[in-house]
Parts: sequence; C-alpha cells; structure tokens
Amino acid sequence: MEAVTIKDLKKIYPKTEAVKGITFSIQKGEFFGLLGPNGAGKTTTIHILTGLANKTSGDVRLFGKDVVEDYKEARALIGLVPQEFNFDQFEKVYNILYFASGYFGIPSDIRKERIEKVLKELHLWEKKDMKAITLSGGMKRKLMIARALIHQPKILILDEPTAGVDVETRKSIWKFIRKLNKSGVTILLTTHYLEEAEELCERIAIINHGEIVTLDSKKNLLSLLEGERLCLTLKEEIKLPSNLKKYNVTIQGKTMTIALDPKKDKWEQVLADINGLPIEKMETNKNKLEDIFIHLTNGK
Ligand SMILES: Nc1ncnc2c1ncn2[C@@H]1O[C@H](COP(=O)(O)OP(=O)(O)OP(=O)(O)O)[C@@H](O)[C@H]1O
Ligand SMILES: [Mg+2]
Repeated sequence: MEAVTIKDLKKIYPKTEAVKGITFSIQKGEFFGLLGPNGAGKTTTIHILTGLANKTSGDVRLFGKDVVEDYKEARALIGLVPQEFNFDQFEKVYNILYFASGYFGIPSDIRKERIEKVLKELHLWEKKDMKAITLSGGMKRKLMIARALIHQPKILILDEPTAGVDVETRKSIWKFIRKLNKSGVTILLTTHYLEEAEELCERIAIINHGEIVTLDSKKNLLSLLEGERLCLTLKEEIKLPSNLKKYNVTIQGKTMTIALDPKKDKWEQVLADINGLPIEKMETNKNKLEDIFIHLTNGK
C-alpha cells in the first residue's frame, strides 16, 4: 500500500517554478530519502504534503486521502519536523507538546501519558518545565520530533532533522527514527548530510531544480558509478581534453574526477591519457553516495 502518492505535482510561485511536475510514491513502512541541493524544491514538496502550501496542479495523497479534498484526515496521518524552528521559544517544553496534542483533540489524560513517554524517549523529560529558548540547538530539534509524534502519525516527515546537531545527538536521533520506522511508521527524510541518507534510507529520490533526477534503491544508486574514481587536483583550470572525452569526467574548477568503468577502462590507458595534464595531486576513491549526488546534479 502506498503511504504517499505524488502525481505530476507542480508548484509555481510568481517568480519561481519550484516544483515542475514530479511523480513518485512511498510505500507503507518505507524509509525514503529526498535529496537535493539548496532550492531544489524539497521543502516546497513537503509543505504541499502537509498543507502548508497549496499546489498549483497535480495529485497528492496520503494513504489514499487527497491532501486538499480530505485535508483533515490527511493531516492527521502525518507528522512534520520542519526545517526551521517554528515553536514559541518562550513557551515551556511541556506546554508546546500539550497544545500541539490539543489540535488533534487528544483527551487530556492520554496527552499526559504520551508527552511523558516521548520526552523520556528523547531524553528531554528533565527539560519539561524549561522554556524552549533555553534548550540547545540539538534539543530543539528533538523537541520538534517529539511534537511531530504526539498524535501518533503513520507518516513522519523530517526536513533536515539533524542540521546543526553534533555527532552524538545525530546518532541518537538516527537510532530513534530507525526504531520508529521498525515499529511501522513510514518516514520521508530530506537531508544535506549524504552519509545520513546512506545510513538510513532504503530508497532515495534526487531532486534538482524542481525535477526528479533519479529515484532508486540506495543499493542501486551506490552501484550506479561502480568502480573507482580518479580525482585530480590541477594547477590551473582547463577544458576537457579531447582524449579524455571517452571517459566519464566531471570538472569542477581545478578538480577533475574520472569515474572508471571497471569493464571498459584500463588503468594503463587512463594513466597514459592523463599524462601531460598540469597535475598537482592525484587520489583514487571508491564511490560514495556523495559522488553520485554530485555526478547527477552537476551542471543540470
Ligand atoms: N513562499 C515562496 N515564495 C516564492 N518562492 C518560494 C517560496 N518558497 C520557496 N520558494 C522558491 O522555491 C524554490 C525551492 O525552494 P525550497 O524551499 O523548496 O528548496 P529546498 O529544496 O527545500 O532547499 P533547501 O535545501 O535550501 O532547504 C526556491 O527557488 C525558493 O526560493
Ligand atoms: Mg528546504
């Protein structure tokens, strides 16, 4: 069953075509990643899913519920951890959760139980009577996760959940959301930390300039540029020499990356072909999601 269904979604702002007709779906129980550079259209897509922005056209459903026609049911299915802090900084942690659960009509005694449980799970219980402004950045992120879960949504959307969070807190957030996913909650995550997507997501869509560039399992994406890469730091910027056009080459300033196809490219030949370039430094690397991301979004 599909938890999220997006068909030909467009969002046109007066000066920007933020989302240009994207189509994808997320299966129930999946851990799905939406990756893309700044301004790609990730938050816009999420805002349409959660009713914070109106679509220009297209069809968007959560467990079959139309986000516009059946907005009340759709909204109750989803929990959002937004990119920016959007709670009242001068309110107490406990009250922020108490009021949020009020929006969903949760009876008072159940509210109290749930707030205690989620705050304890996220190690925020001892901060419950503190004003949100007194929390650290990482704690504020966790507070938004707690708030997003208070109505027990079937889908949790996290928009850059670990931005500005230290390594240890990030790992504890990863552990928490992984456990949540194991318990059956469908997860949609956007992140700039590619190792985060590599660590957590089963399938990943890469979005750039409002379009889906690729959508595949993490495994397939990682094997997309199978083999090793040769990274050259050059003494000066150059145009791609004609004898290197037969390779998969990316040039960014003084950095030239040659992705080697193990079936086709022979080291001896490659080394002969780069002979004569103004090379300052040379390294070889195995592919990582980061390289695939740059390869797919570079210059497109
Ligand atoms: N309310 C708005 N009015 C006008 N343009 C907007 C609005 N919201 C977003 N945009 C534009 O739409 C485009 C996509 O923005 P969006 O916030 O969806 O990007 P993003 O992928 O979330 O980027 P980031 O990684 O920086 O968070 C950008 O060009 C942005 O300026
Ligand atoms: Mg964003």
